[in-house]
Amino acid sequence: MSCVRLEGIAKRFGSTQVIRGVDLDIQSGEFVVFVGASGSGKSTLLRMIAGLEQPSEGRVFIGDSDVTDAPPSERGVSMVFQSYALYPHMTVRENIAFGLKLKKTGKAAIEEAVTRVATMLEIEALLDRKPGQLSGGQRQRVAIARAIVREPQVFLFDEPLSNLDAALRTRTRIEIKELHRKLAATMIYVTHDQVEAMSLADRMVILNGGRIEQVGPPSVLYHQPATKYVAAFLGSPTMNFVSPSVVGDAGGAESVGIRPEDMRVAGAAGAESGLSGTIEEVEELGETRILHVKLNTGDIIAVRDRSLDDPNIGQVVSVAFDETAVHRFDAKGARI
Ligand SMILES: Nc1ncnc2c1ncn2[C@@H]1O[C@H](COP(=O)(O)OP(=O)(O)OP(=O)(O)O)[C@@H](O)[C@H]1O
Ligand SMILES: [Mg+2]
Repeated sequence: MSCVRLEGIAKRFGSTQVIRGVDLDIQSGEFVVFVGASGSGKSTLLRMIAGLEQPSEGRVFIGDSDVTDAPPSERGVSMVFQSYALYPHMTVRENIAFGLKLKKTGKAAIEEAVTRVATMLEIEALLDRKPGQLSGGQRQRVAIARAIVREPQVFLFDEPLSNLDAALRTRTRIEIKELHRKLAATMIYVTHDQVEAMSLADRMVILNGGRIEQVGPPSVLYHQPATKYVAAFLGSPTMNFVSPSVVGDAGGAESVGIRPEDMRVAGAAGAESGLSGTIEEVEELGETRILHVKLNTGDIIAVRDRSLDDPNIGQVVSVAFDETAVHRFDAKGARI
């Protein structure tokens, strides 16, 4: 069953077009992540689903209803923002209960619901504190609890983890994934962090300048990017784009890409080896090593390979890759 459907959505602020014709079908229970560069329109698209922003063109459907003209409160959605947006003068308990009070839920039912979500998110001990007395991670969990307690059809998250430090971010990311499984709810999540996106998503939506570049499961987008933009967007270090002469048969490609982990270096440049280069920089990253190599073709590439014993700057190496790891794109940037 389709849970959220966007049909021909466009958005202009004055004369600036920020969303340019977006069509998207999100299935019930799916975890969909919007990802893209800053300003690509992720938040605007999410806010139009929430009803906080009105599309200039197109329709928004949630469940069986056209909600394009419905206010946020009638859409069955809950949104969690980067800023948490908790009420500072209310306790955690009151913050979580607030939406239910507005809906005139009975006292006992509210108490039961608050206890249930507080237990799920392990914040029972914090219920009588004010938001000012919580850490960033705890506030973030309260914001999620407040969203869950309303039992929405759809959860909307806009960069909810960006105020957390790296360790807490990774931990909370797993918690959100577990929560999704437990609740079997539809979740739409915005982030500019590609690792977060790949870790959470059933399907990723890559936005570029207000348009969808590609939609699909993370592994498909990573291994079979439909466009050069998607190829370059996913992966760190980014895909190496090299002159077609680097690969024997460019197959008419305008642009040729190979990911750093699909390339290898070996000691000295063998006489029979076509491709060689000079190490220009070495990044030791613990679990991996990135070598920046200037090829004899003039291309500068990154190679993720720690097989060399003691790589030195200026060292000449031979470079190899699997033919199957080569991505080819035409002049328009479409995959060949
Ligand atoms: N109220 C507004 N008035 C005018 N322009 C706006 C408004 N809101 C957003 N924009 C513009 O729309 C574009 C998309 O903004 P949006 O906030 O959706 O981007 P984003 O992908 O969420 O970026 P970020 O990763 O920085 O949060 C930007 O160029 C932004 O400047
Ligand atoms: Mg945003």
